[in-house]
Amino acid sequence: MGDLMRLCGLGKAFPQRQRNEITILRNITITMGEGETVCVLGESGCGKTTLGRIVAGVSDYTAGSYRFQGKEVSEMSKEERNQFRNSVQMIHQNPYESLNPTMMVFDIIANPIRRHHKIVKIEELYEKVTELLETVGLTPVEDFVDKYPAFLSGGQRQRVSIARTLAMNPKLIVVDEATSMVDTSLRISLLGTLKKIQEETGVSYFFITHDLALGKYFAQGQKAVIMYLGQIVEECSMERLVEYPCHPYTKEILSAAVGSSDILEKDQGKKYRLTGTDNPSFKNLPSGCPLHPRCPQKMAGTCDVKIPESAKAEQGHYVRCHLYEEERQR
Ligand SMILES: Nc1ncnc2c1ncn2[C@@H]1O[C@H](COP(=O)(O)OP(=O)(O)OP(=O)(O)O)[C@@H](O)[C@H]1O
Ligand code: SF4
Ligand SMILES: [Mg+2]
Repeated sequence: MGDLMRLCGLGKAFPQRQRNEITILRNITITMGEGETVCVLGESGCGKTTLGRIVAGVSDYTAGSYRFQGKEVSEMSKEERNQFRNSVQMIHQNPYESLNPTMMVFDIIANPIRRHHKIVKIEELYEKVTELLETVGLTPVEDFVDKYPAFLSGGQRQRVSIARTLAMNPKLIVVDEATSMVDTSLRISLLGTLKKIQEETGVSYFFITHDLALGKYFAQGQKAVIMYLGQIVEECSMERLVEYPCHPYTKEILSAAVGSSDILEKDQGKKYRLTGTDNPSFKNLPSGCPLHPRCPQKMAGTCDVKIPESAKAEQGHYVRCHLYEEERQR
């Protein structure tokens, strides 16, 4: 399968009133093929949504390159840009905000079908809306078509939002913490629906979460990237990430997840803790490796001075940490 999209050295800086600008994303490189999933993991505020919005074309990048189906997004013509915006859709964290409260479920889904597929006949529209509601598991369909969002549960609203997204026939869906407002018991069912849709349609997912267990469930056999303060610090398959985490920050994430989830084996990554009370931020970015104020393995004179390059730990496994640059040189 060919590349669907490729981010290369991508960056994002926001203009600020009192200072020049604030850089949030730095040097992001990710490639994904058709029908694949990339899971982006990282703590709150590390830049996941900022990245997801760029991937979905909702926000622009300020450095590097983003190619979608071979075309540089910032250089697309108006027509190409419209096509790109249709091909990449985003499912948001909060279905309460993303659905129009004054529209019935039927219209919420029928409107993009009218626009995108140029279908106007009511029978054909009803058939397509029915098909989509069945795909997302909102059955019997008659119970939902004439409801307003206020009369649906959070999980049902998120399913409506997924059906609306599918109405555009997207090639790539950015799923940004889409199940975080849904009861735990319904989370797996919703993610199962998304996986089934992928099997049936070959859609790709850019799956954003702070929850390793959810990521592991959703991106089985797929690619995982770990973000810390706007940079990718580790990239490999989801299975390798859990079995052989390399970066100290990944080890911390694994360590924190053990015990809070039965999805991870009980001895995986245990007893690894970052140190220090400093909480580095984008406004106060540490010199050298951004993790060095918290890293128990930091090497004075190196980690606090030099920004680590991404190094190959194994085939398909990359780590941004001086420990691995050192190993490579031995
Ligand atoms: N328009 C903006 N202007 C300036 N800074 C911004 C802007 N949008 C986001 N940021 C900053 O970018 C950083 C990353 O935010 P982002 O929402 O991408 O993080 P996140 O990883 O999605 O967090 P969460 O897990 O809480 O959703 C934050 O420090 C945020 O304040
Ligand atoms: S580069 Fe140094 S400070 Fe950064 S994660 Fe690696 S060992 Fe820790
Ligand atoms: Mg976010």
